[in-house]
Amino acid sequence: MEEKTELKTWISGIPYELAFWNNIYRWDCAFEGLRNWSRLGQTIQLEGFDAVTFLAQFPHPIVLDVGCGISFAKGDQLPVPGGMQSLEVHYIDPLASYYNKIIQRYHREMPVVEFGMMEHLACTHQREGVKLIIIQNALDHSAQPIEGILQALQVLDVGGCLYLNHHPNEAEAERYKGFHKFNICLDSDQHLLIWNDCQRVVLDDLIASFTTCHTTILPNGFVVCTIIKTAEVPSQLLNLQHETARLLNEQKMLIDLLLHPRYAFGLKLKYWYYNTIHFFVQTLSWERRKKLRQFVYGKKKLNNIRSC
Ligand SMILES: C[S@@+](CC[C@H](N)C(=O)[O-])C[C@H]1O[C@@H](n2cnc3c(N)ncnc32)[C@H](O)[C@@H]1O
Repeated sequence: MEEKTELKTWISGIPYELAFWNNIYRWDCAFEGLRNWSRLGQTIQLEGFDAVTFLAQFPHPIVLDVGCGISFAKGDQLPVPGGMQSLEVHYIDPLASYYNKIIQRYHREMPVVEFGMMEHLACTHQREGVKLIIIQNALDHSAQPIEGILQALQVLDVGGCLYLNHHPNEAEAERYKGFHKFNICLDSDQHLLIWNDCQRVVLDDLIASFTTCHTTILPNGFVVCTIIKTAEVPSQLLNLQHETARLLNEQKMLIDLLLHPRYAFGLKLKYWYYNTIHFFVQTLSWERRKKLRQFVYGKKKLNNIRSC
């Protein structure tokens, strides 16, 4: 029952996410802003972590960008003596099929996104050679972030790095709207804390025996955690047979839900609603959007975010 509620809550975030990206890609000005920010065709760059030096140790490193959205913000080239090497980057997101449609609909030339969810990553993307997994601004969108981290560590080669970069306490800031269901912050011991009203997990305590973990806050306030895998994930933490059973159960619940016409129509309605809002919002400048946000939420409320 709890799993069904989790799944329903997660699905309820889809219309908002799709409406947001649809209107970023629809409007030339919004898309240009995204394109200028994106580092496609440029050197890979991760805030707070020297990805170039790290990846240069390996002959053909594979990079997974999980929960990539369609921002393509990280870069896909590695400087090597005498030029640039194109990295094998896999862009992975549960909304891949919708995102690929949006890219095609507005005739934008962007990479193809592959289907995958972080909490089932070992089922879809287990392979040798994965040296870097990036989860940026997506862990807090997942229904099971801890499971997502364990699965990502399972997929990584020993010696590989899981890179997490998130707004602090995003779910609180966004009032748990859309996909925002978890908060991420640093606790008083400088450890990564993942929390909401139902769960509170200190990541370092959970994964210390098979990783080295370093968490920091960037000058812009973002929380960055780099986790180097030093040994295989203990089987008591990750039971893949159990995970496959859970995946099948989720599939069944999903089919049951979508066969309910009222439920499916409710999702469509929600999409139209958010799509109309974003249709107008994405034409506004960043400053105006910020003012609008303050007007809608109220300045006081925005400053009144609970912290961990
Ligand atoms: C705010 S976007 C972040 C996009 C990109 N990483 C960035 O930093 O611009 C969050 C993305 O997380 C994805 N997401 C939600 N749940 C997920 C899950 N369980 N596994 C992987 N990605 C997920 C959403 O579909 C969405 O595209």
